[in-house]
Order: sequence, then structure tokens, then C-alpha cells
Amino acid sequence: MVWKRTISAKALEKAKSVAVKVDDKVIFIANINGNLYAMDAVCSHARCVLGQLDEQKLTVRCPCHHAVFDLKTGAMLEPPYVSPNAPKEKLGLKTYQIRDNIGWIEVDV
Ligand code: FES
Repeated sequence: MVWKRTISAKALEKAKSVAVKVDDKVIFIANINGNLYAMDAVCSHARCVLGQLDEQKLTVRCPCHHAVFDLKTGAMLEPPYVSPNAPKEKLGLKTYQIRDNIGWIEVDV
């Protein structure tokens, strides 16, 4: 395990979600009602950075072609919309363990 510090727990609580750079990765982290989540923030379709969190469904939508990812598992729930005949392959994203370590959000990369 390699825990890396990201942002303060208070900052994440206020923002709810944010994409953070950790070494060579960009990771989407979220605090939903005290539950912490972390997954790759770079879309598996065409590498846009994710950002549209749905707190009720625990999903994140890609702003570029609207693929939807499960925040808990990283699974792609809805494929990107590019054209009606485009392949509907569903490529998920990696998730990470995340913790609050004395006021700092850390991700196991
Ligand atoms: S880049 Fe995310 S859906 Fe296309």
C-alpha cells in the first residue's frame, strides 16, 4: 500500500468532489454524506476529465460524450454517446482505497 495525501478532509467535505493529481494519475475523489470514494478521473473513452457527480445515484458523468461511471466500482453504466452506430463497449475505471487520516484525504495508489 502506498497512501498519498491529496486535500484536506474539510476541503473535500465542502467541495463534495474534486479531481486531484496524484503522481502521474488524476483521481476523482468524493465525500458523499461522510462516505469517501476514489476512482480514476480520466474517462476510458477519449480521456476527458470526469466531473458531473450525481450524489443520489453515486455516479459520475463524463462531460464530453456523457458516459456514466459507478463511483463505487468504476464500472461504465452508460456508454459514450458519439453516434447511433458507434460501438457500445463499456470500459470501466480503476477505483482506489481512500481514507481520512487525521484531517487529510489519502488515496492508496
Ligand atoms: S471522453 Fe468520456 S465519454 Fe467520451
